[in-house]
Amino acid sequence: MLAGKRILLIISGGIAAYKSLELIRRLRDRGVSVRCIMTAAATNFVTPLSVAALSEDKVYDELWSLTDESEMGHIRLSREADLVVVAPATADLLARMAAGMADDLAATTLIATDKPVLIAPAMNVVMWHHPATQANLTLLASRGILRVGPNAGKLADGEEGLGRLAEPHEILAAIDDFFAGSGLLKGRRALVTSGPTHEPIDPVRYIANRSSGKQGHAIAAALAALGAETTLVSGPTHEPDPPGARVVRIETAQEMLVACEAALPVDIAVCAAAVADWRVASPATQKVKKDGRLPVLSLTENPDILARLSTTGAARPRLVVGFAAETEEIVRHAQEKRRRKGCDWILANDVSPASGTFGGDSNRIHLVDDTGVEDWPAMSKREVAERLAKRIADHLGAGTT
Ligand code: C5P
Repeated sequence: MLAGKRILLIISGGIAAYKSLELIRRLRDRGVSVRCIMTAAATNFVTPLSVAALSEDKVYDELWSLTDESEMGHIRLSREADLVVVAPATADLLARMAAGMADDLAATTLIATDKPVLIAPAMNVVMWHHPATQANLTLLASRGILRVGPNAGKLADGEEGLGRLAEPHEILAAIDDFFAGSGLLKGRRALVTSGPTHEPIDPVRYIANRSSGKQGHAIAAALAALGAETTLVSGPTHEPDPPGARVVRIETAQEMLVACEAALPVDIAVCAAAVADWRVASPATQKVKKDGRLPVLSLTENPDILARLSTTGAARPRLVVGFAAETEEIVRHAQEKRRRKGCDWILANDVSPASGTFGGDSNRIHLVDDTGVEDWPAMSKREVAERLAKRIADHLGAGTT
């Protein structure tokens, strides 16, 4: 399945760089074209000559080499691949990726690429557990960067623990998984709502809720990663834009509805936004003054976007998925909600304060459809997103193209 694919392999400077030679050989055996970039430090561990010989291509290791820039600029280099693999990815290169630096060819290529990136970290165990490295990894994961390893074991410096580069066959398996999944939703269009809405009281105050947008953004990223042409309609959040999705930013529920309707027709709609149920009927046009009298807010109901999308007649998406945030009798309430709103699936989750779901990183999902309930184990919001995207791909069957 890998034959004919193009991989840009970035080798950074760690003792594990020698394993990249084996990776190149295995990729070439599978008919993959491998183009390599080496950082200056990497050339201390393996020679560009070996890398060139095994990849059967020139090795790129000098950002400002005029010949390279005229023959093959770093922008072209970063785009002419189906997947960028960084193996080994050192703590230093991960930090530079996270910071968006462009201080050598490897970092410049990583910030210039519009292609998916898979990292295979390798470093000392203390460097791996350092809060800086962990924060960089979290940030990179939120940007859709894929990761394989590291493994635990004896490290080159004699210490034991996490930090060993994944074995070449494991990196190859991660590459296989990527290509197996990447086309599952090709030809499908998806719409995802995410985040809270802000409903104005006056020009400076609003009614909002605690939704972080993490789950909705992760779903948009996961659908896009499987090849769906994805529109994310998002209320105000601090989440970075999911890679590969078109993002439409709105503030109010009414704006969200308009943006969703403008994105139709789609095959898949996933409503993960925490839409405010009510808005102030007539927001003040000037800031409401504190004049001794208590203001009275008169509320009116917001449109239910999930229910609207579920009943849009001919333009109804083939699969409409809603969320149910419940604090008690989770599944029963979700089943009722599914019927009431007319959607196909409800992903019910426990948002009681003890669960830490709102604003937190993990979710425990019960998928309710017309056949019953599927209980998922507790997992991160990113894992929920990936599992949901695969479940959707299974449900819709092979792509339309
Ligand atoms: O009714 P409730 O707010 O519990 O329903 C939650 C589900 O409905 C979520 O999928 C949410 O995105 C969606 N919803 C919506 N528009 C609303 C309220 C909820 O799309 N006005």
